[in-house]
Amino acid sequence: MSTLFAFLHHLMAFTLVAAIAVEFVLIRQEITRANALRLLVTDAVLGVSATILLIVGLLRVFYFEKGAAYYWSSHAFLTKLAVFVLVAILSAVPTLEFLS
Ligand code: HEM
Repeated sequence: MSTLFAFLHHLMAFTLVAAIAVEFVLIRQEITRANALRLLVTDAVLGVSATILLIVGLLRVFYFEKGAAYYWSSHAFLTKLAVFVLVAILSAVPTLEFLS
């Protein structure tokens, strides 16, 4: 089970990075209706992968790795989680822009 969740964790992390790369390419092109639609779909993929990554990550914290007590006292983990949440909040700005 631990291996499966580690695999899902990597899969979602790479999907998220790929979606960001595609968005960078798309926003440099002319914003046509087709491109705007691609941007919305890519942004949805990004949102879904980030959500699954968070859920899978929390499941690993609580059930499949070293246990919650270990991670809540790990500065490296807390920093990673804080950066993840901060970037997720900041990414609402481009998402709202794309939706408009
Ligand atoms: C973009 C965001 C993230 C990336 C790129 C990322 C990437 C990674 C990588 C490369 C590893 C090491 C390989 C492994 O053990 O599978 C790892 C481990 C881990 N991640 Fe993440 N992660 C992200 C977000 C999160 C979040 C949001 C959580 C929890 C809420 C989380 C929880 C964990 C846990 C519990 C481990 C196992 C650490 C250990 O070996 O003790 N990750 N992550």
